[in-house]
Amino acid sequence: MLSTLDDLKNRLQTALVNAFGPDLEGTDPVLVPTNNPKFGDYQANVAMSLAKRLKDKPRAIATKIVENLTIDDLCEEPQIAGPGFINLKFKTDYLQNQLKAVYADERLGIPTANPPQRTIVDFSSPNIAKEMHVGHLRSTIIGESIARTLEFLGHDVLRLNHVGDWGTQFGMLITHLRDVCPEAMTDSSTVDIGDLVTFYKQAKKRFDDNDDFKTTSREAVVDLQSGDPEARLAWQALCEQSRKEFQKIYDRLDITLQERGESFYNPLLDDVVVDLKSLGLLEEDQGAQVVFLEGFTNKDGNPQPLIVKKTDGGFNYATTDLAAIRQRTTQEKAQRIIYVTDAGQANHFAQVFQVANRAQWIPEGVELVHVPFGLVKGEDGKKLKTRSGETIKLKELLNEAIDRAEKDLRQRIADETRDETEEFIHTVSTGVGMGAVKYADLSQNRTSDYIFSFDKMLALQGNTAPYMLYAYVRVQGISRKGDIDFSQLGDAPMLLAEESELTLAKHLLALDAVVMEVAQELYPNRLCQYLFELSQKFNQFYDRCSVLQAEEPNRTSRLMLCDLTARTLKLGLSLLGISVLGRM
Ligand code: ARG
Repeated sequence: MLSTLDDLKNRLQTALVNAFGPDLEGTDPVLVPTNNPKFGDYQANVAMSLAKRLKDKPRAIATKIVENLTIDDLCEEPQIAGPGFINLKFKTDYLQNQLKAVYADERLGIPTANPPQRTIVDFSSPNIAKEMHVGHLRSTIIGESIARTLEFLGHDVLRLNHVGDWGTQFGMLITHLRDVCPEAMTDSSTVDIGDLVTFYKQAKKRFDDNDDFKTTSREAVVDLQSGDPEARLAWQALCEQSRKEFQKIYDRLDITLQERGESFYNPLLDDVVVDLKSLGLLEEDQGAQVVFLEGFTNKDGNPQPLIVKKTDGGFNYATTDLAAIRQRTTQEKAQRIIYVTDAGQANHFAQVFQVANRAQWIPEGVELVHVPFGLVKGEDGKKLKTRSGETIKLKELLNEAIDRAEKDLRQRIADETRDETEEFIHTVSTGVGMGAVKYADLSQNRTSDYIFSFDKMLALQGNTAPYMLYAYVRVQGISRKGDIDFSQLGDAPMLLAEESELTLAKHLLALDAVVMEVAQELYPNRLCQYLFELSQKFNQFYDRCSVLQAEEPNRTSRLMLCDLTARTLKLGLSLLGISVLGRM
């Protein structure tokens, strides 16, 4: 089937060519939803943007487009308004047919990408032996949603966890480990280092306070980098311990990720430097090997250097990312690489991309995108902290979301004098708690900072996960109450008689456009907004139209509308990484 919006677009494009000749082939008709349903469903604003090029008044251009427009199977008579908007209103017949086609389609009218793109989503990426903080949580949630959306569209997605598992901090960690846990130096499989964050702090303190320790640590870095087996084992033990902790969070959040940390690129770093040199991009600056950047200047107005090899011979975060770009484009054949990190790394990526570009390491047609996001703040607008003022541990944050969801649920069960099992309570509070945390993050425009509020994210009303989950549950309730098997509604006609039915139907038909937009622009909040409006429109429809009590043929048609709403919510939420519940 042809998507509703594409259908409109194609007709307008044909009209443009017929009216003004083949030069206009492929012109974007600039279709947007009308602000006021009184004027129709969509308006085409292309006449305004063509005025200059065609040297004519927009209204005259609009008139000519409409004269050449064959659209009466889709829309009512197009109306020209204002300076030259073309207002279009769908015919009910057409909507009914489109809806039937979507209803019959398992993918709900969303086409698969042709051709699919080999895509890498680089996300989550915490650092070994350090706390996985709320910034990493944001990257994890946003990255997972982007990966799911692209996968659903049929792209070939490689999800990579670029963990910080290399670098000079391992010198002090290994040295400390050698003292407190010597068995780790010979057998890394059995050791339990305990809380790594505490361990890190202890090592750091010794490093700062003790010169001998510092010297030994520096030697340990050299040992590790030269592949000394003992240092290597200790490093493995540290990584393994961190990995276990991270995995617990990923399991709880239902995140799929392949670990490919910085260390993976270690053997490729020398070549980055050698090749930059032979390309003539490398310069020496105060003993370091650098590339001077275009468009980045320091305080004195001089070009800023990107250091790829430090004075002491060590490599940088940026060197690893340069090596990763080469490996990912050549070996992995990536056509699109998406990096999900906080906005604070925008310069880092702009600089790395620039150097890769100037070195011609980005093959034709390959797209590198940084997907930045803002900070997570507490309700006081400051950095997120626990009540006692400590930094929040992710584990505790997730626990609290679930605990609060459970408390709300027990209250509701008591108020409604329902009888529910402990298993039900556990499943629902976990689902609601996790969904709420994810949704709260995804529903914000990711570029802004976001205020973390348990109360807001768990509210049953508003743009929240519980509101959407509840709309889904409502539909399941209808099927239970009426003993309806939605899969058996089959081939009945869909009838859109009431205004609220039409409004809901039109919204249901816009799903494909939203999903495509998220895949292109990488803003999952657009999908959240869509699902929020869908739930609202469904609730309005359900308040105004009787369903189980309605007469046939409206009854079946309305049941199909309910079912399609639920399927749309389920699919949409799954692209956000959220699972629906049958009851709650
Ligand atoms: N480990 C980094 C951090 O915690 C994020 C890595 C992002 N990915 C990348 N390819 N640089 O900030």
